[in-house]
Amino acid sequence: MNIVQRPRRNRKSESIRSLVRENRLTKDDLIAPLFLIDGVNKKEEISSMPGQYRFTAELLLEEINSLSSLGIKSISLFPALEAKYKDKTATLSHDLNHFYQKAISAVKENFPDITVMTDVAMDPYSSDGHDGLVDDKSGEILNDQTLEILAKMAVAQAQSGSDIIGPSDMMDGRVGFLRSALDEVGFKNVSIMSYTAKYCSSFYGPFRDALDSAPKGGDKKTYQMDFANSKEAIREAQLDAMEGADILMVKPGISYLDIVKSLKDHCHLPIAVYNVSGEYSMIKAAEEKGWLNGDQVMMEMLTSFKRAGADIILTYFAKRAAELL
Ligand code: PBG
Repeated sequence: MNIVQRPRRNRKSESIRSLVRENRLTKDDLIAPLFLIDGVNKKEEISSMPGQYRFTAELLLEEINSLSSLGIKSISLFPALEAKYKDKTATLSHDLNHFYQKAISAVKENFPDITVMTDVAMDPYSSDGHDGLVDDKSGEILNDQTLEILAKMAVAQAQSGSDIIGPSDMMDGRVGFLRSALDEVGFKNVSIMSYTAKYCSSFYGPFRDALDSAPKGGDKKTYQMDFANSKEAIREAQLDAMEGADILMVKPGISYLDIVKSLKDHCHLPIAVYNVSGEYSMIKAAEEKGWLNGDQVMMEMLTSFKRAGADIILTYFAKRAAELL
């Protein structure tokens, strides 16, 4: 048969396939999200996220040590507070003596070369379970009043040694507001990775179990994005870039590869993608049932983020991927 074009020639052996491979996942791309609790010597498995734990500080350091020896250089830290410590205005979020702030300092003291990203949003500390301040009468999430609290939180995290502030709250104007709050007190070199296109997603379910942070009333639709929209992501990205963000993030990951690609094409900043809790749990559950090969599906998924244009991947699979890479 006279077939001139035979694409299969470029697939005929692993060595040729590796020569023509367009995208590669490396350990350099990965950020491991980790959960922190108060206390000593506790490590609790998160029931809806098998293989993921809430650690107290000294066990968190051990975990970071093993991640670091596997070649993971960046972590993102989330606190899980007991309900009795949560309040309306997220008071503990900017207390320098709180266990979260103290753990940030401990990580930087023990691992100065590890990049520590910290989370800015009210939900882990809020008795309302929202990322912003809730107006008791109307139930409205108050944008501008929230910014004042987020700024205190960002400054406290920077004072504790955070390298990258990660606003995950989706309030309007927060990147610019946090940038000037940080600059005013001299933290010009603290970066901002904005959760730029953060969608209102049911894929966050297991994370809210991990933090016990589900909203007490209503939902997050007035601040997180409608999953039917894509142009709005470009608008958010342009605003964050103008306001001084260093890195733009898309969240969740697998159902949002088109958004990753679109931001990559429209923006000149590095693009991160957050492979969220529900995406992790789905694969773990199917693997436990023997329905698919978890490691293979993980690698395929992580590589698809690179193919879509992501420079950085936040993933609960970071440790496992590093073991295999
Ligand atoms: C909230 C926050 C959420 C996640 C990170 N920060 C959940 C939410 O918006 O309710 C989700 C991460 C995940 O699902 O892995 N500020």
